[in-house]
Amino acid sequence: MLQLDIREVNNQQELAEMFDQRWLVLRSPLGMEKGSERDNHEDGAVHLIGMCDRKIIASARLRELSPGLGNISYVAVLPEFQNQGIGTRLMEELITKAQARNLKTLRLKSRINAIKFYQRIGFTEQGDSSDFLGIPHIFMQLEIQP
Ligand SMILES: CC(C)(COP(=O)(O)OP(=O)(O)OC[C@H]1O[C@@H](n2cnc3c(N)ncnc32)[C@H](O)[C@@H]1OP(=O)(O)O)[C@@H](O)C(=O)NCCC(=O)NCCS
Repeated sequence: MLQLDIREVNNQQELAEMFDQRWLVLRSPLGMEKGSERDNHEDGAVHLIGMCDRKIIASARLRELSPGLGNISYVAVLPEFQNQGIGTRLMEELITKAQARNLKTLRLKSRINAIKFYQRIGFTEQGDSSDFLGIPHIFMQLEIQP
């Protein structure tokens, strides 16, 4: 059984490692350069990581958009660790963090390939798909139970 420690990033070194892992999963396969994995909303966001043998194998970000409304983005599990329930555990922990922050609604933009993954967690599709980074995406939403 995989020993997985899910927790928030602790320091700048871990933050840098997390950006590397995020880039590896979400941007490198698209041929995008280092740096393309970040945006202007990193400060103040909750950065959750999944650690295994002191290596970051999973990560995701939660941030508050407005009172009660949260956004989840950059959900990434290293390819060799996918389909083992790690992404689901990461999302469950993020939802707990969101509850603790009094968020009522969570939104995300799902790649078409990940829709089923988010649906199983309870997210529902909102509106039509649109292209982002050349990949069809769809907005999804979850109402959090208190
Ligand atoms: C999408 C992603 C985050 C999901 O993470 P994951 O760890 O692979 O997700 P899980 O293992 O929890 O669930 C994935 C599938 O594995 C299955 N699964 C869950 N636990 C399992 C287990 N113990 N054994 C085998 N299969 C399992 C689930 O049924 C699920 O199937 P479904 O998605 O077809 O419903 C991950 O695959 C990823 O990083 N993909 C590339 C980047 C990406 O697309 N990110 C999303 C951007 S919106």
